[in-house]
Amino acid sequence: MITAVDVIRAKRDGERLSDEQIAWVVDAYTRGIVAEEQMAALAMAIFLRGMDAHEIATWTGAMIDSGSRLQLDVDRPTVDKHSTGGVGDKITLPLAPLVAACGAAVPQLSGRGLGHTGGTLDKLESIPGWRAALSTEEITRQLGEVGAVVCAATEGLAPADRKLYALRDVTSTVESIPLIASSIMSKKIAEGSAGLVLDVKAGSGAFMKTPEQARELARTLVEIGTAHGVETTALLTEMGTPLGRAVGNAVEVAEAVEVLQGGGPADVVELTLALAREMLALAGLSDVDPARVLASGEAYETWRRMITAQGGDPEAALPKPRHVHVVEAPADGVLSRLDAYAVGVAAWRLGAGRARKEDPVQHAAGILLHAKPGDPVSAGEPLLELHTDTPEAVPAALEALSDAVSIGDPVPRRPLILDTIRS
Ligand code: URA
Repeated sequence: MITAVDVIRAKRDGERLSDEQIAWVVDAYTRGIVAEEQMAALAMAIFLRGMDAHEIATWTGAMIDSGSRLQLDVDRPTVDKHSTGGVGDKITLPLAPLVAACGAAVPQLSGRGLGHTGGTLDKLESIPGWRAALSTEEITRQLGEVGAVVCAATEGLAPADRKLYALRDVTSTVESIPLIASSIMSKKIAEGSAGLVLDVKAGSGAFMKTPEQARELARTLVEIGTAHGVETTALLTEMGTPLGRAVGNAVEVAEAVEVLQGGGPADVVELTLALAREMLALAGLSDVDPARVLASGEAYETWRRMITAQGGDPEAALPKPRHVHVVEAPADGVLSRLDAYAVGVAAWRLGAGRARKEDPVQHAAGILLHAKPGDPVSAGEPLLELHTDTPEAVPAALEALSDAVSIGDPVPRRPLILDTIRS
């Protein structure tokens, strides 16, 4: 007979958990038989002792089996992308319609922001009328008709993760590679797509602060995908400075539309195309050139159909902030550093993010960057534009930004894509 105390003791003492122990404890926790305090102790033991590749794959499988898998009955190859989260990371918005316009089906079940990283659903909800909650039938129909869906995860998907994530959040056990990797992959594998591309971010604005930690997470994620028969590729990408020039909700949607219309910041375009190429390779469509499809306007047309299918008006004006505060460059020189974490926290304090799951976000809140690292700046010129509906939030945002900027000598541009890890 397996008991929670025996499983906790085994992991506490550094033992490897058996397949039976893992299947039992995850199932019993989901059903409320293993108590929250027992799972908290086990999560801490896993945090401190780790798990090997086989244990992580088995743990992921048990989390998938705690709910139902989405059955995607579509006649195109399915492929999805997941980002470990960053500041200004709106890549899903141009990427999903682009890859769909290239011939694949993209079921992108996304989340909301918590803390300094934004959430894709919060961004899209700044489009008047757009609806995040879809039924499985609506997801399947839209995938067949449009090729791309970005929506909220359905209730039955990996319920063990929903419970465990909330517990980890309050027991300081989030930053554990086995727990992060199994949490991400249980949801993504349950989503049912045949291929998965991961954007694993490294830097101040990411969960993993160093490229070494990010590489270890990327390898673990790819190993789990492979063990579960999902072809998985990970790109390791830079998150020391925000992606693009817009951080927030409506401002990020506007920037994504610029990209879909053939413009937009170079880094957003570069990462969108790099991820699209990897997704198309996994979908068996490597002969399609996403840069050509982007330039042709077909991806923009797919975006319009994707937004309309979910009740949104792609032509409607996006919300504008009631208050704009301009931060000026303090000196002449070259912007040598603009810290992603500080900008993310400032945008969050302006109202773009939420402190608790149930809080609303301000759709018009965010930050526009007038310069990126490597750009020349002149004292007194606008450097950042802070957008908010609540001007009383500006001092706290400025405090977050107090050490965010360095101006100095020209710096070599850092590569955006640090590495690619394949199965
Ligand atoms: N994202 C997830 O889905 N889970 C984690 O544990 C961390 C990031």
